[in-house]
Amino acid sequence: MSFSLVGKKALVTGSTDGLGRKIALELAKQKADVIVHGRDVKKADSVVKELIGIYPDGKFESIVCDLNKSGSIEPVFSGVKNLDILINNAGIWQEGKTLDVKAERIIEIVNVNLSAPLLIARTLLPVLQKSQFGQILNVVSVAGIEIPSGYFHTIYSATKFGLQAFSEALEKEYDNKQLRIMGYYPGGMETNLFKKAGNDYKAHEPWMFDPQESVEAIIFMLTRDPKLNVKRMDLINHLQK
Ligand SMILES: NC(=O)c1ccc[n+]([C@@H]2O[C@H](COP(=O)([O-])OP(=O)(O)OC[C@H]3O[C@@H](n4cnc5c(N)ncnc54)[C@H](OP(=O)(O)O)[C@@H]3O)[C@@H](O)[C@H]2O)c1
Repeated sequence: MSFSLVGKKALVTGSTDGLGRKIALELAKQKADVIVHGRDVKKADSVVKELIGIYPDGKFESIVCDLNKSGSIEPVFSGVKNLDILINNAGIWQEGKTLDVKAERIIEIVNVNLSAPLLIARTLLPVLQKSQFGQILNVVSVAGIEIPSGYFHTIYSATKFGLQAFSEALEKEYDNKQLRIMGYYPGGMETNLFKKAGNDYKAHEPWMFDPQESVEAIIFMLTRDPKLNVKRMDLINHLQK
């Protein structure tokens, strides 16, 4: 490993479940200080307790903010005064015909998947710039690089294409400035993302893969030598399309 995460302070949005929780656990294993984020105080506290239970010497805290409430993002996240790594991971799923998605739900998806990572990055960029070496990793999706035929997730895709654009534009803006910006593009993973959106997928759909694979990919990206940047990584199940 080229770049150690020991003692680095990392904030993972949406770390009360799924991929984010697993990233938080792995960062703690690597001896990073972790800020858990979620919308539900009980869930956030429970992940912090879980981390303390496994790594009693670690430094863990939590931050609670509903990312659908755009106006509360800057006031809440500006409470973070030092930070080395921001992982914009929180997200929600939506599929089905565009006409079947209510206006309020469209706004929620845009708020959580796109506005929130922009606003959180905007709030924390000055803090990350105070770090010796800051990193922002945006969890995008294969749905942010490719539009499938005959299967619809227009709103979700729109937000993830937007996040791809933000991630790549920000990478150019901060090129050569001791701040590494990366985008991670996974295919379908086995989490509760779909169930929460009301989709009745089986627990082990053949196109899903274990989110732990993504954790390993993300840790690889975060631990490269500072002079290198895995600017983007796509991880897809190439045997099941
Ligand atoms: N699973 C996949 O197949 C897949 C594929 C490609 C990309 N991704 C992306 O991977 C990321 C993680 O998703 P996941 O699969 O791990 O889903 P997940 O298990 O549902 O986790 C999503 C996280 O985001 C949080 N979140 C959702 N809405 C929020 C809000 N309004 N305010 C604050 N936090 C909120 C959730 O909180 P709660 O615990 O309260 O629900 C949870 O902690 C997302 O950006 C997703 O788009 C997932």
